[in-house]
Amino acid sequence: MTLTPMLTRQWAEEQSWTLDTYTSGGGYRALTKALKKEPGDLVKIVKESGLRGRGGAGFPSGVKWGFLPEDDGGPRYLVVNADESEPGTCKDIPLMMASPHVLVEGVAISAYAIGARHAFIYVRGEVVHVYRRLLNAVKEAYAAGHLGRDIHGSGWDLELTVHAGAGAYICGEETALLDSLEGRRGQPRLKPPFPAVAGLYSRPTIVNNVETIASVPAIVDNGADWFSSMGTEKSAGVGIYSLSGHVAQPGQYEAPLGITLRELLEHAGGMREGSQLKFWTPGGSSTPMFTAEHLDTPLDFEAVGAAGSMLGTRALQIFDESTCVVRAVTRWTEFYKHESCGKCTPCREGTFWMTQILQRLEAGTGTTEDIDRLVEVCESIGGRSFCALGDGATSPIVSSIDLFRDEYEEHVRLGTCPYERDASVLFDLPEQEGAQV
Ligand SMILES: Cc1cc2nc3c(=O)[nH]c(=O)nc-3n(C[C@H](O)[C@H](O)[C@H](O)COP(=O)(O)O)c2cc1C
Ligand code: SF4
Repeated sequence: MTLTPMLTRQWAEEQSWTLDTYTSGGGYRALTKALKKEPGDLVKIVKESGLRGRGGAGFPSGVKWGFLPEDDGGPRYLVVNADESEPGTCKDIPLMMASPHVLVEGVAISAYAIGARHAFIYVRGEVVHVYRRLLNAVKEAYAAGHLGRDIHGSGWDLELTVHAGAGAYICGEETALLDSLEGRRGQPRLKPPFPAVAGLYSRPTIVNNVETIASVPAIVDNGADWFSSMGTEKSAGVGIYSLSGHVAQPGQYEAPLGITLRELLEHAGGMREGSQLKFWTPGGSSTPMFTAEHLDTPLDFEAVGAAGSMLGTRALQIFDESTCVVRAVTRWTEFYKHESCGKCTPCREGTFWMTQILQRLEAGTGTTEDIDRLVEVCESIGGRSFCALGDGATSPIVSSIDLFRDEYEEHVRLGTCPYERDASVLFDLPEQEGAQV
């Protein structure tokens, strides 16, 4: 399968982030087209394109837009989720750095389609350079008449606010994001009501991922059939696959949904020299891990689900045989413990206990019973937590014990991490006497 640059099309161009570069490639043409259509027709186009949310869950975007209640004359909002904090997920930030206008144009079209006159981009607080770049793009778009009053002479007005969060993974969960945007501590809300009915300031609100909204201009410009002709029947279109870790050329690879890791590795120059694939995540650290057995699994929502994991955000973190799986899982679990918002007991307490047990196992001071206890703690969290952070925290643990139980047991048997004993495995040292530590 070949790569299909749609969102990444202009990334290699000189000053790719400027309005001039974007318009020279046909930028804001789709907005002009969209403003000549009825908003309802645009919702129909997005529905027919088969676009599914790119933020992880893969919910059909046009269907979500269709959940908005009838216009009651009051405000309704579009909120772009640019919080991107999942370990391994790194597509939205490069997209906003390299091509911020494709997001701004997507916001303008999508807001018009759903009848919102105020939109927000909620961007992760730590990435100040991205925040600045977005602010600049928004300023350029206002000055050129793509935002603000009477856009393109259509009579349509739209305000766009870029908001920087304070840096919390939970604020990527859509309802925690809305609380944070309202000025409160970011914690998930009880659903229903869903944001489409009562979201920001209790008004109808659509929350979509950066990549989802950025896909809208190309769909409007080229048509729903063009988009749905790519990808698979139920997972239409193209998406950005982020390859990180032990690959020769890590980076962003935009391809039709359904491409396999084997094909992506061919584009990325294979594994780093001389190394073998040990395990990988198909969609970030919250998705059950895969091994070399899954190299030919089509990376679409259905096939990855059928193989026991989730497509998530297409964050392909690739680990070779020099990686201690217990160590990798412990680091992820420490992250979830740190980021647990504390609202519900299974996740707040469970992530604490999982971290304690994993740290013992990693250091070689754990027991075989600890491995079973870890699975039991995961069972008390999965499906019993208030939001998906709790479920996600258990995925790497349960899947790694399923696939690599012998490696956990080896830590117990040796009383240390087997990878610590042989530094040559970790640091790729030439074979020599004394390499054992
Ligand atoms: C803990 C947690 C963190 C999340 N972080 C993000 C994020 O950074 N970006 C994002 O788009 N969605 C994130 N989501 C998913 C959102 O709740 C929501 O499903 C998504 O923004 C909807 O957009 P989409 O339909 O376009 O995918 C997160 C969910 C959870 C439970
Ligand atoms: S699962 Fe974790 S992050 Fe989600 S509400 Fe409960 S404590 Fe907070």
